[in-house]
Amino acid sequence: MPLKARIIANSTNLDADPYVARSFDANSTVAVRKDSRMTRKVTANLYMTIDGRGEFPKYPGYDLPAGNRDDPDEFFRRMWTDRYSDVTTVVMGRRSFTGHRRVHSLKARKPDAPKFLLDYSRFLERVEKVCLSHRLKHLNWANSRLMSGDLAKIVASLKREEGGNIILEGGPRLIHEVIRRNLADDYWFLIMPVVFGRGPRYWFPMTAQTNLKLLSATNMPYGELVLHYEARQGKAATGTG
Ligand SMILES: NC(=O)c1ccc[n+]([C@@H]2O[C@H](COP(=O)([O-])OP(=O)(O)OC[C@H]3O[C@@H](n4cnc5c(N)ncnc54)[C@H](OP(=O)(O)O)[C@@H]3O)[C@@H](O)[C@H]2O)c1
Repeated sequence: MPLKARIIANSTNLDADPYVARSFDANSTVAVRKDSRMTRKVTANLYMTIDGRGEFPKYPGYDLPAGNRDDPDEFFRRMWTDRYSDVTTVVMGRRSFTGHRRVHSLKARKPDAPKFLLDYSRFLERVEKVCLSHRLKHLNWANSRLMSGDLAKIVASLKREEGGNIILEGGPRLIHEVIRRNLADDYWFLIMPVVFGRGPRYWFPMTAQTNLKLLSATNMPYGELVLHYEARQGKAATGTG
């Protein structure tokens, strides 16, 4: 798997977020919000080619961050490093979960990997991982749990629990449902400069329009775009108000 396809990050920066306690849970080292009345933000991550495919293609620069190999590039920093201090739950479909466990668990990570990848593995190790599956019985990864059923109910139930922010990390079909049902508060897109034609699809027919508000757009050195959108609620979400 190309380097850029591996979920990455740098260092925990608890000082940056006043809402996160500067102590960790003794067992899981998950950062806990000081004020449990705060809403847990739900963010969906999308990584796609221009034609909306979720497999990572080869293209110039696909394999290395520009600059020091130990530092994350802008895409990785925004998707992951910047969130280490306030995300405590990462939700994945079964295939994404098992893929991440195979590649990104600390057990799987080689000790000579770039520092930002080691840091990413440490982050994934300590956060709670929710694996969606009807099929799996054992997860074999610390701080993991199984959930299944209606996605809106799962997201609502996670939001009611105590904890920090929540990332929905694919796969593409799951994220399609999240967008179609307006289940996330915001969306981070990494768009790779390739029309690929292969890999899992993000986009399928939808019955209603969804409107998003662009918060930022960043050009990456190899032509990727990092786009941050906020979800709209109510009528504005579907373009009718
Ligand atoms: N580009 C990206 O953003 C990105 C991100 C992650 C993964 N990927 C790639 O995309 C592929 C996997 O994506 P995918 O969309 O095919 O699969 P996926 O979403 O990772 O996994 C699909 C499985 O998740 C389970 N699931 C989903 N919703 C559920 C629910 N509400 N309740 C219970 N179980 C639920 C089901 O497992 P059961 O059959 O066990 O019930 C379903 O078969 C992999 O090749 C991966 O490498 C790409």
